[in-house]
Order: sequence, then C-alpha cells, then structure tokens
Amino acid sequence: MPENKELEFQEKYDAKHSLEYFRKHQRGLRRRLTTWAERRMLRKALAMMGDPGSVLDIPCGAGRFWTVLAERPDRRILAADYSADMIETARRFQPPELVARVETFQASAFDIKLPDAAVEAIVCIRLIHHIGQTEDRRRMLAEFHRVAAHTVCLSCWVDGNLQARRRKRLEARRPKRKYQNRFVFERDTIEREIREAGFDILGHIDLLPGISMWRMYVLRKRAA
Ligand SMILES: C[S@@+](CC[C@H](N)C(=O)[O-])C[C@H]1O[C@@H](n2cnc3c(N)ncnc32)[C@H](O)[C@@H]1O
Repeated sequence: MPENKELEFQEKYDAKHSLEYFRKHQRGLRRRLTTWAERRMLRKALAMMGDPGSVLDIPCGAGRFWTVLAERPDRRILAADYSADMIETARRFQPPELVARVETFQASAFDIKLPDAAVEAIVCIRLIHHIGQTEDRRRMLAEFHRVAAHTVCLSCWVDGNLQARRRKRLEARRPKRKYQNRFVFERDTIEREIREAGFDILGHIDLLPGISMWRMYVLRKRAA
C-alpha cells in the first residue's frame, strides 16, 4: 500500500467497496447512461489530445474506461489505483482480452512511481472532485505534469450549471458534516490552478452543458 495518506476517502475501497463500485455502475438506466456518456466524453478528449500512443488511467477504479482506451489497437495502456482491491476487481470483471492489454500497478496519484514523461498522456476521471485542499490539488497536478509527456484529461465537478446550483442550495440547508468527501469547484479557480501547474487548457467537454456538474478538461503541458 502506498504510504501517502492524503485523502480520508482513499482508504474506502477495500474488496467489498470495490465490488460494490463495479456493480453500482452496471445497475440502473441512469448509471449505465452516465457511463456511456462519460466514455463518449473520453473519446472526444482523446481526439483533442491527438490520439496518444500511451496512456496512464489513474485512478482506474474497476476499469470503466479501458474499453475506450483500447479502441486504438496499438496503444500502450497503463492503469493504476491507490486500492489494490480495486485493481483486482477490474482484472477479475473486465473481459480477459481487454485485461491482457492493460499493465496495472498500485500507486497514489500523488506519487506515481513512473519516470518523468513515462507516458504520452494521463487520464484522471472522478478523483480530483474528492480533493478539497488547493495544496493537495497542486501536488497532484505537479505529479501529472512530471509523468505525462504531453497531455492530461481531468474530470471534475464545476459550478455554473443547474446541478451545482441545486447542490449548493442543498448543502446550505443540511447540517455541516465533519468530513466533506466531494467538492464542486468554481471554474475560475480550477482553471487558474491548472494554468499555475504548467498546463494550457486545450478545451473541455461537459456531460450535459448547463445541466450537469461533470466536466472533462483537456490539458497540454506548456512549452518551457
Ligand atoms: C470514484 S472512483 C473512480 C474510478 C474510475 N476513474 C472511474 O471513474 O470509474 C475513485 C477511485 O480513486 C481511487 N483513489 C483514491 N485516492 C487515490 C489516490 N490518492 N491515488 C490514486 N487513486 C486513488 C480509489 O481507490 C477509487 O478506485
């Protein structure tokens, strides 16, 4: 197990939770539609990234995006997660021919344990919205900047849409929790942090423009 203990939630994905995460995304029309739409977003993001020949999927979770990454037959696919149980779940439940294409390893997004510029691109879906502290986000983006040679795809929750406004109203009404697990970022703030980390924003893709909080940013390392 990696030593960094940056996020309380990162300890949550033991074998039981990992299996639940895998099953949850297979259940119900809404979740299956969301996965379908997120895969479509990733396809667009990969095109914006110039169809990279090597990609690190971190956190890979139960491998929801491996099928999209494998659409380029000669792509080298690396996949990492903080949770060994999550990786095991992905390897167990994704189709064997897909699993055979993917090099998996355990790692924290704060300390990836690959050499500098080891992959052309990094795909980071559904992690940064768990990171409430600017300093932690900065460290993670710095690690992505070190490991990706060219581009990064980063999904997060942003404001400026119906879902974010609804969530804000809900949070104002309910009692403050001791530990907040997920965060909606102001677009200006997250975009400033991305630029400060040494990336240009090539573009973004919204799940449902004006309605959903989910956004994928496509980043390119700024020339030194
Ligand atoms: C919500 S899941 C997203 C997984 C996948 N990207 C997806 O969208 O299906 C969050 C994942 O982040 C992993 N995780 C938590 N903290 C992490 C960290 N510091 N570094 C890498 N992975 C982490 C968890 O183990 C879990 O698999």
